[in-house]
Amino acid sequence: MDGNGRWAERKGLPRLEGHRRGARSVDVVVTACRELNIPHLTLYAFSSENWGRPKDEVDGLMELLSIYLRKEKKKLLDNGIRLNPIGEIERLPDWVNGLLEEVIEDSAHNNDMVLNIALSYSGREELARAARLICRAVSRGDLEPEEIDFNALNDNLYTSGQPDPDLLIRTGGEQRVSNFLLWQLAYTELYFTKTLWPDFRKKELFRALDVFESRDRRFGLVGTQVRND
Ligand code: IPE
Ligand code: MG
Repeated sequence: MDGNGRWAERKGLPRLEGHRRGARSVDVVVTACRELNIPHLTLYAFSSENWGRPKDEVDGLMELLSIYLRKEKKKLLDNGIRLNPIGEIERLPDWVNGLLEEVIEDSAHNNDMVLNIALSYSGREELARAARLICRAVSRGDLEPEEIDFNALNDNLYTSGQPDPDLLIRTGGEQRVSNFLLWQLAYTELYFTKTLWPDFRKKELFRALDVFESRDRRFGLVGTQVRND
C-alpha cells in the first residue's frame, strides 16, 4: 500500500492526510475481496524499516491503526473475516497491541477470509525467526537437522498453514518488493501500478485481477503440463 505520502504532498496536504485517505482504500479493498470470496488477503501496513520515519508520522500511523481497528471491528466480525497479524507486533505500543489482540481474539473463529496485516514486518526478520524456531526444535530433540526442508521453513513463518500468494499488488509506482513476504513470493505474479494507494479503489482492484487472469503461470514447467487445453 504505497503512495500515501505522495498523494498528500501533491495536494499540498500533510502526509498524514494521505494515510487517512489510504485507510479508506483499505476498507474498500477488504470489502471487495471478501465479496469476491478471496480467501486470503495480506496488507503491508507498516514495515520494520518504517519505525525510522519521523516520530510524528509513526505516532500518526499508530493512531490511524487504532482508529481502523475500533471502526472496522464489527464489519470484520460480521463478514467472517479473521484478523491475523504478521510481524513483530510486540514492538507496537501497548495500547495499540491491546486493541489488536482484542480483534484477533474475537475474530479467531472466523473462517471465510484471513486478513493478514503486516505490522512491524520484515521478510528477512521473519526468515531469521523461522531459523531460530527450527533451531530450538532441534536442540529440544523434536527435529533432526536432516528433516529441515521446505515444509519445516513454511511451518515456522507467520503465514504457516496458508497458501502462497497468487498475486502481489504494489501501488505508487515503485517496482520492488521492499522486504515483503520474501519466501512466500517465490511464484507470485507481480503487479505494479502508478496509482497511489489512496486512489486505489474497486476499479483499480478489478483491473489488477484482470491482468492476473491473463498471466500464464507455469511454475517452472512447460505450458502443456499446466494447461488443460
Ligand atoms: C504508505 O505510503 C505506506 C506506509 C508506510 C504506511 P508511504 O507513506 O510510503 O507514501 P510515499 O511512498 O511517501 O508516497
Ligand atoms: Mg512509500
